[in-house]
Amino acid sequence: MFRKTALILLVLATVAKTYGQAISRDESEQRAQALLKQMNLDEKVGQLNQSAGIQMPMLGSEKPDTLIEQGRVGSILWLTNVKEINRLQHIAVEKSRLHIPILFAFDVIHGYRTVFPVPLAMASSWDPGVEEQAQHFAAQDARAAGIEWTFTPMVDIARDARWGRIVEGAGEDPYLGKAMAAAQVRGFQGDQLGPDSVLVCVKHFAGYGAADGGRDYDSSYIPEELFRNVYLAPFYAAAKAGAGSFMSAYMDLNDVPASGNKWLLTDILRNEWGFKGFLVSDAFAVGSLQVHGYAKDPSDAAYKAITAGLNMDMASQTYTKNLAQLVKDGKVTEAQIDAMVLPILAAKYQLGLFDHPYADESKVEATLNRPEGLTLERKLAARSMVLLKNDKQTLPLKTSIKKIALIGPLGDSTHDIEGGWTVEGLFGNGSKSHPVTLLAGLKNKLPNAQISTVSGPELSRVFPGLLDQLAGKKVLPPPTPQETADWIAKVKAAASDADLVVAAMGEIASMSSEASSRATLDLPGIQQQMLEAAVATGKPVVLVLLAGRPLDIRWPAEHVPAILEAWYPGTEGGNAIADVLFGDVNPGGKLPVSWPRVAGAEPLYYNHNLTHEPEDRPQFTSRYWDIQSKPLYPFGYGLSYTTFKFANLKLSQASIGTDGSTQVSVEVTNTGSVAGDAVGQVYIHQRWGSASRPVRQLKGFQRVALQPGETKTLTFPLGKDELEFWSPQTKNWVVEPSTFDVWAGEDSTAPLHAELTVTQ
Ligand code: BGC
Repeated sequence: MFRKTALILLVLATVAKTYGQAISRDESEQRAQALLKQMNLDEKVGQLNQSAGIQMPMLGSEKPDTLIEQGRVGSILWLTNVKEINRLQHIAVEKSRLHIPILFAFDVIHGYRTVFPVPLAMASSWDPGVEEQAQHFAAQDARAAGIEWTFTPMVDIARDARWGRIVEGAGEDPYLGKAMAAAQVRGFQGDQLGPDSVLVCVKHFAGYGAADGGRDYDSSYIPEELFRNVYLAPFYAAAKAGAGSFMSAYMDLNDVPASGNKWLLTDILRNEWGFKGFLVSDAFAVGSLQVHGYAKDPSDAAYKAITAGLNMDMASQTYTKNLAQLVKDGKVTEAQIDAMVLPILAAKYQLGLFDHPYADESKVEATLNRPEGLTLERKLAARSMVLLKNDKQTLPLKTSIKKIALIGPLGDSTHDIEGGWTVEGLFGNGSKSHPVTLLAGLKNKLPNAQISTVSGPELSRVFPGLLDQLAGKKVLPPPTPQETADWIAKVKAAASDADLVVAAMGEIASMSSEASSRATLDLPGIQQQMLEAAVATGKPVVLVLLAGRPLDIRWPAEHVPAILEAWYPGTEGGNAIADVLFGDVNPGGKLPVSWPRVAGAEPLYYNHNLTHEPEDRPQFTSRYWDIQSKPLYPFGYGLSYTTFKFANLKLSQASIGTDGSTQVSVEVTNTGSVAGDAVGQVYIHQRWGSASRPVRQLKGFQRVALQPGETKTLTFPLGKDELEFWSPQTKNWVVEPSTFDVWAGEDSTAPLHAELTVTQ
């Protein structure tokens, strides 16, 4: 009785103090400590359990109600029905002994109702402010709809386009990745985690993108120097930006599964980086420690995960079933359990869940349908697109065009324009947004033009993905020769009759993301044949690529005059593409990946080391004999409807000590006749030292708008943060005396050069 009164007083004090305002982490920890003292072992273990809120084939059909009442559910995922969220929360708050609210989690990856461009597209904007804005908007939507925790940002470096999850991250570069990671943390959490924000979960810790052969879930083997200099960099940036939680990855990292890897979860994240939040496993990953051949049985899996420092078990119920016994057997101490529970409770206090556990159902729809979301999305989508080719100023198009042939399977697909991982579309529930397809966007732009469409056969994976199955999608056989011939004839007829052909081609959304790796990168199905038929008519052709990864477009790159990479641009995608095609928006996006010519060139990345035969003896250089080894388009590349000139690269000091810093400045001028955005990029190379260093590394970038004839001076710091690296010889972070090359310009091949000397 006394305990109950004390708890109510504590809750009331909390309400009085924090209504609508954030509390510090210290204060939240003190409250969590007080609550922890009242909890029994089962309740503590309950906070370490995340239950599934929906029924999936591999999960039982039991609802979590009873577990919640017993205080054995700390968090629930995969639930977006706000009524059900509130119903379960009522059970937790009213019927469980200590009234501890549940933390509801979902993957709010690129928007909630209003779907923003996929993360790879956002990274192509080279504008972290854009990413922050989008995620802030998504956070407001999510919180209003009862989601307090998102499994975002995905910050895995991806150097291999075969890997399906490349679409979910910021591409191949650690510096760009760091900027995008921190921006997303700020977008969701604000300056500080509070009652109006959404807790982020930085994933997948760590090295998931280096999967062998680009096959999702496969093992990663990453030497420590590469791990620290490249793969961990965005995670570190997210931690420093205040990320409240991390997700451990599925795969074996150097033979120790990430979810049971003490070196990773405790030594690096907590001890080295000072991370004070909590870690959740990826879905079922604790149970999977046994499947990996790392844990002997479920009890051993629970033991290995908890002692590695993993706070919460996502969905596998391995903690629920084994942890209490491990404590009773003396294998795990209750103090260890307390340390795991504390940051979870603290996060609940910080999020204000004890004061406001319920979503206001009457306000959800109004929030999710805020019209400003669509305006923002259209703007951001256009900012994310990358113009890959534009021969003879094919683009921008003239609004006087009368007849357009829109060919390809993605021209009028409402689902694919938004890409995968959409909140409302995720489990086949169907999106409640109203996506604007490219066909609709073209019609909006040219209401009087005649637009004929030839979709071609529906695209299909050879092996279905989980999401395809949940959505009831079947694998389709490839078209027969007769069907193919019929489609090609239709393309020829439509193209011959039009002034212009727009080809909307690439991949359907379920061809990238989780469990969606490919061995080839070509345009699936008969898309290239359709494109060839259109080009053969002699009519101007514009290829709009919709995909979650760079594709093998060697043929189009040679034969199609204009190519626009639109990725998956989101709800307003069709309007945004039309804005770019007709020049209402001048494209300014840049590639966050090196564009491979062919799948066999992967992994491909610009920041590789020099070989002993760099370039002068072609027969000996590190290359393939059947294909050019350079990417089709380099990292950082993207065209504009105007041109830019970079000049006057200067260093404020050409020589500095190892603890010094200098400032790089470079002028950029819009030398064309229309306004446009340039992205100034700075790269460095350390010529010698305790280790070989990459030929180039991005160390600064800035997107700026320039009127015709306008010049701006861009400045970038070069100091310890930019010059240091983790040396495999000294086994620590070093800035070494050496000579550094410095380049500035439009992409990773920028020629403008200066030299920096770093002395002891
Ligand atoms: C994915 C994660 C995701 C989790 C929860 C897993 O299958 O790997 O990225 O956050 O499911 O939906």
